[in-house]
Amino acid sequence: MKVGEKHYRSIWYDNEERAVKIIDQRWLPHEFKIVDLISLDDFAVSIRDMWVRGAPLIGATAAFAVSEEMKRDPSDNSLNNAWDILHETRPTAINLRWALNQMRDLLKDVPKNKRAEIAHARALEICDEDVERNRQIGLHGLEIIKKIAAKKKPGEAVNILTHCNAGWLATVDWGTATSPMYHAVDAGINVHIWVDETRPRNQGAQLTAWEMDSHGVPHHLIVDNAGGHLMQHGDVDLVIVGTDRTSSHGDVCNKIGTYLKALAAKDNNVPFYVALPSPTIDWTIKDGIKEIPIEERESHEITHIQGKLENGTLAKVQICPDGTLGGNPAFDVTPRHLITGLITERGICEPSPQGLAALFPERVLDK
Ligand code: MRU
Repeated sequence: MKVGEKHYRSIWYDNEERAVKIIDQRWLPHEFKIVDLISLDDFAVSIRDMWVRGAPLIGATAAFAVSEEMKRDPSDNSLNNAWDILHETRPTAINLRWALNQMRDLLKDVPKNKRAEIAHARALEICDEDVERNRQIGLHGLEIIKKIAAKKKPGEAVNILTHCNAGWLATVDWGTATSPMYHAVDAGINVHIWVDETRPRNQGAQLTAWEMDSHGVPHHLIVDNAGGHLMQHGDVDLVIVGTDRTSSHGDVCNKIGTYLKALAAKDNNVPFYVALPSPTIDWTIKDGIKEIPIEERESHEITHIQGKLENGTLAKVQICPDGTLGGNPAFDVTPRHLITGLITERGICEPSPQGLAALFPERVLDK
């Protein structure tokens, strides 16, 4: 998507500099910094410490990490070592394992002197595939927005609530949950987005609000607890969120707080959709609540908050008494009965084994 007048992806390979580049998301929206990822350690740190984040982007970064590692050392040891180091960086987003398996399965039978070239091509392809999947999700989601817009009075906006950042910064481009929003704006539909701030790391406030602003999407930032109230008063027509891992039966794991939005949506008859690119489906599990590992992050993310001071400098401040311990489960699971539909690149389905199997029959047969 555009930043100013220039089109960016969240990760790319610079052919002139022969380097993988990312937007370092820790500083947005206040500073736009691009950094090079060179060593395996750079890649692992960038995922673990959330310079890049969002399930699809984590996968794309891991793919580039393997391809860069193959340029240095194409041995089996190096391939397996990269897989192990990267795999343990973030436990919940399944796109990480998906991308690492894609790379290892492709390379394991390739002669060592060809590995670097083949890995590089596949990493680029994984990025392009992500962009196309998200574009398709946008087109399918657009149909939902169009139907709601058709029932609105002239000048009335379709109000969409989203949680966390499932935007282009969480993917290679377009985003998942945001793609229908961008497509709607580009189609001239009047939409307005409620952006959950998304404590503790405030991906909504820092990233989604920035994206919305950059693309000219009308929006308001709200505290995470406002959604239920807005739904009760008819101010939300639709919820669209992303996902870090969805079970083969349709339970959706996403940023902490998503479940509470789904409960409120159910209580208020507000449609609750999940934008779901297929690499985010974990075909090996059924019950998302029991089987998806939930990342527990540092206490510091709860006890402190980062922002810009009035004098323009960035600072981290403590918001609780000295010594307070923060509990920090980073994701929760929304059971499928609270979800209206899954918007995939192949179309929209009900959140059920049958719904997913009908769209991805080859994956079910694979097992
Ligand atoms: O901890 P994060 O910022 O990586 O969490 C991101 C989310 O929860 C997103 O909603 C999810 O990855 C979907 S991104 C298309």
